[in-house]
Formats: sequence, structure tokens, C-alpha cells
Amino acid sequence: MQLQFRNDPIERIPADAVVLGILEGTKRPAGSARAVDAAAGGAITACLAQGDFTGRREQVVVLYPKGRVRTKRIVLVGLGAEKDLTVERVRQAAGRAAARARELGVGELATVVHGAGAGGLDPAACAQAVVEGASLANYSYDRYRTRDKSKSRRVKTLILAEADAKKMAEVKRGAARGRTGAEAVAFVRDLCNTPSLDMTPRQVAERALTLADKEARITVKALDENELKRLKMGSFLGVAKGSDEPPRLLVLEYVPEGKPLGTVALVGKGITFDTGGISLKPAEGMEKMKYDMSGAAAVLGVFHALRRIQPQVRVIGLAPMTENMPGGHAIKPGDVLIAMNGMTIEVNNTDAEGRLVLCDGINYARRFYKPDAIIDIATLTGAVVIALGSQASGIMGNDEALLTRVKEASDRSGERVWELPTWPEYADLMKSDVADLKNSGGREAGTIAGAMFLAPFAEGTPWVHMDIAGTAWNDKDKPYAPKGSSGVAVRLLLDLLENWEPNGTARGRR
Ligand code: BES
Ligand code: MN
Ligand code: ZN
Repeated sequence: MQLQFRNDPIERIPADAVVLGILEGTKRPAGSARAVDAAAGGAITACLAQGDFTGRREQVVVLYPKGRVRTKRIVLVGLGAEKDLTVERVRQAAGRAAARARELGVGELATVVHGAGAGGLDPAACAQAVVEGASLANYSYDRYRTRDKSKSRRVKTLILAEADAKKMAEVKRGAARGRTGAEAVAFVRDLCNTPSLDMTPRQVAERALTLADKEARITVKALDENELKRLKMGSFLGVAKGSDEPPRLLVLEYVPEGKPLGTVALVGKGITFDTGGISLKPAEGMEKMKYDMSGAAAVLGVFHALRRIQPQVRVIGLAPMTENMPGGHAIKPGDVLIAMNGMTIEVNNTDAEGRLVLCDGINYARRFYKPDAIIDIATLTGAVVIALGSQASGIMGNDEALLTRVKEASDRSGERVWELPTWPEYADLMKSDVADLKNSGGREAGTIAGAMFLAPFAEGTPWVHMDIAGTAWNDKDKPYAPKGSSGVAVRLLLDLLENWEPNGTARGRR
């Protein structure tokens, strides 16, 4: 989607459609809607008077105006109640409107920056949200569509209208930032929507290597199975044993110009397909397990954007990539693996494989990069889908200050998170009779148990675990995420890195 900017009142802009946001309960249109209404002979007032459209969040109506306006259509989108107006509502409204425009075959879509006028929200943040919402809703995955192309119809141009010349610089800055984030999310969605046949660990590595960029000071390595053996990554390699596809450990590094404010390591679960292994999953719904690499994809997505967003913090990205397959060489329940840090793990369930690849990734990050913070991102448990559904990712951690930073980035990005406790008693779930740890604690507190398994590997470093199993895939369309891979976590992580502050003011470690 192309971006254009117009320093003109929206009613003077020719387009296939113009989007206007309307607050819930509006009787008389205000601001730019009022100007459009006047030029279109009261079409909006008439629509509101009928009560067909109330401005409820995500509600959309299309009007075909006559009169002096230069647009073929007016798309009214609900912004919800004024007291609840947030940047995230703006993003959702822009998404819903773009999704409708796209269905209608709109090529050129003009919009005002919702929220930045009478809404009183920050113009740059709103412009970013409008571009994110519209571009993310405009995404579609059509690599394998050869006949019906109607589903791949997209809006070609988004015109941002800002009549106030003083705000234009901010609008342009926010919009550019929005575009960078949205492109990174689309990159992630493509990775996770692609079936495992065409997205093996080696193929992911190939894509990751394209992210290397000398000017942006980004380097990318892909370690192969021999290097992993030399590193003694017995836990990660244990998972890979059942597959004929060789594993890869992707190691990415971004170094800022000047003195870094610190180092943040991102570790993403990269299971390109999770059959469960010998603890085989049921057939129903198994096809979705191609998205079990969403954590790793999010890490790659962050680097996609770091080429342009250049925060003052060093960023390390780690993505242990493998399939989880049953097979003649596969590990079996009861087998004991030795992780890179020397800890022994009884594998009582081969379907709890995510933690087995993450623990070696976390250890690698600490050993070679001494980060100030580690964040791991993983589609780790079915339990988090039961607990939080698709509205929020579960977060857990060992450091209050880091958890707070993640929550703040969540608020700004609109990617919701919810904290679950990590009280020491929960660690008992992961005690083994034969080894230092076991990898499955059964059904009880499944999401927390995953975090308790990982905690000893992060010990000594502030760490947050994000379980995105419920948020990384949508079974239904969302305002700015068509069904399929959502690309979750990229926008939150980018926001966190952009707003990183040096340590020292930590609000106490647990
Ligand atoms: N990849 C799954 C988790 C998952 C489930 C992701 C549903 C997305 C949707 C993970 O590897 C897994 O199988 N977890 C097990 C852990 C259990 C054996 C302790 C689970 O959640 O059942
Ligand atoms: Mn599994
Ligand atoms: Zn898995």
C-alpha cells in the first residue's frame, strides 16, 4: 500500500472512498465529518438521524454522496464512546474501514487521522495507528491462490489528509513509523502462514539471512547441527532428532551507532511444525501447528524493522528452528536430555518441546552476550488459549521492572498482555524423579509450569516469558488482522526497544 499526504481539507480530496471516524452517540457530525456532511448535502446527518449507524466501535457504514464532495464513497466507522477513545481504538477503526474498502474494490482510500483532532490524542501516535490499522487489515496471504483472485484484492493507496499544516510533520513521522512496523508484521505473517513443507528450518534461515544489513549494523548467522553439537545443546538437539530436516540456530545482532543503552536478547520458539513427536497430537486441527514458529518469526520481524528503526539499545535475536516429528530417531517419553548449561531434563512428554529448544537459546544468549534483559516469545501452551483466549498474551517473569516495561509497551502498541504468577511453589510441578527437571507438569497451571521450567535457565538475568499461543493465530477476522497468522508481539517488542532506558533504576528484583 502506497502512502500519500495531503495538506487539504478532506472534502476536497478526490478518492474512491473517504474514511471518517464517528464517536458513539454523535447526533451532529463535528470536525472534518461536519465539513464533508455540509459538502454532501447532509448525507451523514441523515444517516445518523435514522439510527442505522451509532458510532459503536468497529461499526461501518458506506454512503454514496451527491453534491460538492469529490469522493465516490464515504465510509463511516465507529470509534466507540468518547471516554474510551484510545490509540488502539483508532487503529481498530482504521482497520475495519480499510477491510470494508478493500471488499468494495477501493483503490484509493483517503482518511483523516482519527483521534488527532477533537479526540485530543497525540497526532504522531494516531497517524502511526491509522497506517498500522489500514495496512495490517490490507494484508492477505495468497501465495498458493491460483484462481479466485478476488480475495487478494487490496487497497493500493492510502491518502492521509491533514488540513492543519503545523501537524503535518508529526503525521508524516508517525505514518512512516507505522509503515515500518506494519511491513515487519506482514513479513512475520507470511512466515507463519506458509505451510511447513515450504518453511523448513533451512528455509527460515535463508529468509533470516536476507535481513543482514551492513549499514544498519545488523548481522545474521545460521548455526548448523554440527555447531550445535559442539555447543552441547543437547536439549534443542533432542527435539530435532525425530526429523529428517536439520535444525538451525539463527543468531541475529543489531548494534546501535554510539554507546548502547544496554543489551536486550529476544529468544523465539521456532518449531516449523509441531506434530507432538512420539506424544503425537490428535489429527483434528493439527494443520495449524505450522504457526508454532511464531515466536521465532516475531524475533525476525523485529530485525526486519530494526533496519529502519534504529533504537539506542543493542539487540540480540535467537531463533532455535526445528520440526517436532515422530520417527525412528525421535526422543521418547522418559528419555533424559542434557541441556547446554549442564542441567538434565526428563522428557516425560515429547509434545512439551518448545521449552526444550528455548532453554538452550536462553542459555546461549546469557553465555555469549551477557544481556541486561531476556525476553522469550513462544506459542508454548494450549493452557494459555484456555486462560486468556485470543485477546491477550500471557506474561511471566522474574523482574518487576522488566515486566512493567513490557506492560507499558503493551499499552502503547495495543498488543495486550496479562501477567500470571511465578510463585516458587509452582516450581514443584517441574521436579523429576530421575533428573534435575521434567519438561511437563501435566495439565495443572500449564502456562505457569512452562515459565517455571524456563526460569532456572534465565536465573540471574531479568527475564520475561511471553506465551503467544492464543494470540499468534486468529480463527476469525479481527479489526486489523485477517484470519490466520496475526504477527503478534513484533509491534510490542519494537515499542519496548524504542523506549528502552538504561538499567539502574530497576524497581527491585524478585
Ligand atoms: N505448540 C504447542 C502449544 C500450542 C497449543 C500452541 C495450541 C498453539 C495452540 C506446544 O508445543 C504444546 O504442545 N504444549 C503442550 C504442553 C504440555 C504437553 C505440557 C500443551 O499445551 O498441551
Ligand atoms: Mn508441542
Ligand atoms: Zn509446540
